[in-house]
Amino acid sequence: MPIPRSIVALQDPETAQFQILAGEDARVSAFDRSFHFGDSLYEVARSYRGILFAFDDHVTRLKRSANLAHFEELPDLEQLTNMVRDACQEFFLRFGNVEVYVRTTISRGVGDVNIDRTGCGKPYAMVIVKDLRRDPSAPLQPQRWVVARRRRNLVTALDPAMKSGNYLNSVLALAEAQSYGADDALMLDHRGYATEGTTSNFFVVKRGEVWTAPLSVGILAGVTRVQVLETCLELSIPVRERLLSRYDLQDVDELFLSSSTREVQPICALDGRPVADGEPGPITQRVAAGLRRRIDAWCDAHAGESLWL
Ligand SMILES: Cc1ncc(COP(=O)(O)O)c(C=O)c1O
Repeated sequence: MPIPRSIVALQDPETAQFQILAGEDARVSAFDRSFHFGDSLYEVARSYRGILFAFDDHVTRLKRSANLAHFEELPDLEQLTNMVRDACQEFFLRFGNVEVYVRTTISRGVGDVNIDRTGCGKPYAMVIVKDLRRDPSAPLQPQRWVVARRRRNLVTALDPAMKSGNYLNSVLALAEAQSYGADDALMLDHRGYATEGTTSNFFVVKRGEVWTAPLSVGILAGVTRVQVLETCLELSIPVRERLLSRYDLQDVDELFLSSSTREVQPICALDGRPVADGEPGPITQRVAAGLRRRIDAWCDAHAGESLWL
């Protein structure tokens, strides 16, 4: 697959200065720990009208991931913000698209090929700005999911709350879903409780209530998940964080996912069977529309922060 049209802000691991490059011209060292060990952290945010939505929440989660992954330091956050701003501006100027995907990756650093992290250089950052994969103005895009045989990583092994570059658990679950002709997989924990999708949080609608797994089950604390919970409260839709057994997944009225790049999308089939009548359900549609209104209101309130104007 060709490299997507993109702009990269890349920090020099030695000097911490950064360069803005076309995606196809960006290079990292063969001795980068992210490449060999998945020893990196990342965040994916997106912009609306040239405004980065909830970027502070992503930075907060990045700091939490850094703690969980024993990153003793992170690149200077002001420098990181400048990298994001400059890369977005360059992308907007060059391609005229103000609704973009922004991935910030922090590698532990460059050093000898050896799992011992103490001997490597300092963490350094890379920001990739590219088009969103899905048309942001498209209506809801129903998904077909399967329940993966592969289980979510244990909290005590590789805590899913840590957004690290080690994503093989999700890569393999997605491959499994694709082998069944599905779009994505719901992953269970080692006990059989529902956790999340490979790159999204997961919600069940039953008897007028929205249920989602608690953070303690071992999931990523999705930025959009919080927005969804708040949207439900705004819309007076009862919402509960609770353990979801296989039994809870039977006879559901609706299922949906949330993520920064996809907002809310309906899951209309699970394990080859339609969810209810196989169409996006009314609560999913209300939550998706309510979330969009919150995002619009947020962007109105932060219009002065547009990187585009
Ligand atoms: C495993 C996982 N869960 C949930 C999410 C959704 O998180 P957010 O809403 O912050 O994008 C993601 C996003 O990439 C993810 O990778």
